[in-house]
Amino acid sequence: MLTLKGKNAIVCAGSSGIGKGIVSTLAEYGANVTTFSRNIEKLDTVKREVREKTGRDINIIKGNLSKSDDIVNVVKSARETFGNIDILVMNYGDPKVDKFMGISDDEWKYSIDMMLLSTINLSRMVIPDMIQKNDGRIVYVTSMTTKNPLRNFSISNTLRSGIVALGKTLSIELAEKNITVNSISQGFFNTDRLKNIIKRNSEELKITIEEATKNIENEIPMKRFGNPEEIGNLVAFLCSPLASYITGDNIQIDGGAVRSI
Ligand SMILES: NC(=O)c1ccc[n+]([C@@H]2O[C@H](COP(=O)([O-])OP(=O)(O)OC[C@H]3O[C@@H](n4cnc5c(N)ncnc54)[C@H](OP(=O)(O)O)[C@@H]3O)[C@@H](O)[C@H]2O)c1
Repeated sequence: MLTLKGKNAIVCAGSSGIGKGIVSTLAEYGANVTTFSRNIEKLDTVKREVREKTGRDINIIKGNLSKSDDIVNVVKSARETFGNIDILVMNYGDPKVDKFMGISDDEWKYSIDMMLLSTINLSRMVIPDMIQKNDGRIVYVTSMTTKNPLRNFSISNTLRSGIVALGKTLSIELAEKNITVNSISQGFFNTDRLKNIIKRNSEELKITIEEATKNIENEIPMKRFGNPEEIGNLVAFLCSPLASYITGDNIQIDGGAVRSI
């Protein structure tokens, strides 16, 4: 049976959408979860909802992925609340979506800090805990853009592929310590971010929200968007003893949308 009882997890950007789904699912499977984002009120709501759903208390702390001091505070708070870290799940805010020539140096730098440097720093901080335990799980939740780069997504296409490559590299270095490192490439999931993309598409193409929704759904063989808890279940599996021989992978969860071999 899948259980994460007694495992101490950090899940990044957990105040809504995919991150919130992962937080809730890991707590449901028994993990001690610490999560953070920039908005403590949104995190308070997640904490209350998780308690109502699972009877478990999560640890929340305000923190910005792009600020290295905040990352240090998050790890400190997680260790003080639950103990050394067994599980790290990297999930991110949204990098700017625009044509390559429309993206400034500052926008590139923000996303490099928010996505790539945060992944490097958080991994570096928790790996010693995992080495000491001779056990650990690291999951980088990226995007289908690592398998199928999309138009106007140059930041996402570039940085997320780098994150997957980092995961594969770490998987080699850490395998003998029973630490697995995997990435997840998700397709379209029902979140605020996707609602914004659909709204923008409907305005640009002068079509209704329903038509803009159908345009995307029709590209997905399962003809629906995923629910954040479906990513949560995949993360929980990868973090459990059931996935002890899976490492260095980049696993798709997209209702069949990307068909690269
Ligand atoms: N939904 C999809 O279909 C889809 C598909 C592929 C990839 N993705 C990617 O998956 C990730 C999550 O997307 P989502 O759909 O769940 O979006 P969402 O519902 O908008 O959630 C984004 C989360 O990131 C947090 N966040 C944003 N900037 C942050 C920062 N600098 N530091 C800490 N937390 C930050 C937000 O919380 P606060 O506002 O409280 O900080 C929020 O909890 C994004 O990187 C997105 O690009 C999503």
